[in-house]
Amino acid sequence: MNFKETVTLAVTGASGSGYFLHLLETLLKNDCQIYLLLSDAAKIVLKTECDEDWPEDLGALNDALRQKFSVSKDQLIILGKKDWFSVVASGSSSPSKMIICPCSCGTLASIAAGLSNNLIERAADVVIKERGQLIIMPRETPFSTIHLQNMLTLSKLGVTIMPLAPGFYHKPKTIDEIQLFMVARVLDHLKIKHEISHRWCE
Ligand SMILES: Cc1cc2nc3c(=O)[nH]c(=O)nc-3n(C[C@H](O)[C@H](O)[C@H](O)COP(=O)(O)O)c2cc1C
Repeated sequence: MNFKETVTLAVTGASGSGYFLHLLETLLKNDCQIYLLLSDAAKIVLKTECDEDWPEDLGALNDALRQKFSVSKDQLIILGKKDWFSVVASGSSSPSKMIICPCSCGTLASIAAGLSNNLIERAADVVIKERGQLIIMPRETPFSTIHLQNMLTLSKLGVTIMPLAPGFYHKPKTIDEIQLFMVARVLDHLKIKHEISHRWCE
């Protein structure tokens, strides 16, 4: 199958797992191929906030999510945190587009410092060094000066900082509509056409 885009999607342990679930589903529905990376903390938050209790075993997790979203093994590939030989770990093979949704302040700090201690941090480091498109969606409130400085560091490197701060001018009636507002903004930035109505004056 020819995919519209290949995107690395990472989810970390910040609040807002529902945004991630909508984003993953929307990208898959829009014929994107996804390399999916989950931190350990992300799995805890997914269980806490969305009652999503996913298998620990990577093979079982791949099977479960492909079944959940009705996609092939070519379209959704879930990688382990130490999969150093995967495509996202090297500039010679990595997709040029990556999203971290939601992004914890811990992962934000590690990326700003260039630590590359797990596959999420390494994949982000690769996209930055290869001058690809990295969208980071942090969630915390309030932001400390440390968080803001880390965001500034990354923004100066060309990273898009898109905080999970949805608008309300489309008069959302449900949590899903609020979350889809942010999903639409991501797809706009990736230049993927979508049917989620949210634009100013629409
Ligand atoms: C339910 C829950 C909600 C959390 N919400 C946030 C949050 O909104 N922002 C944040 O930066 N960390 C949050 N944390 C803390 C992170 O999960 C923690 O710092 C973790 O070490 C992040 O690891 P990771 O970046 O590898 O996912 C939350 C933790 C839990 C259990």
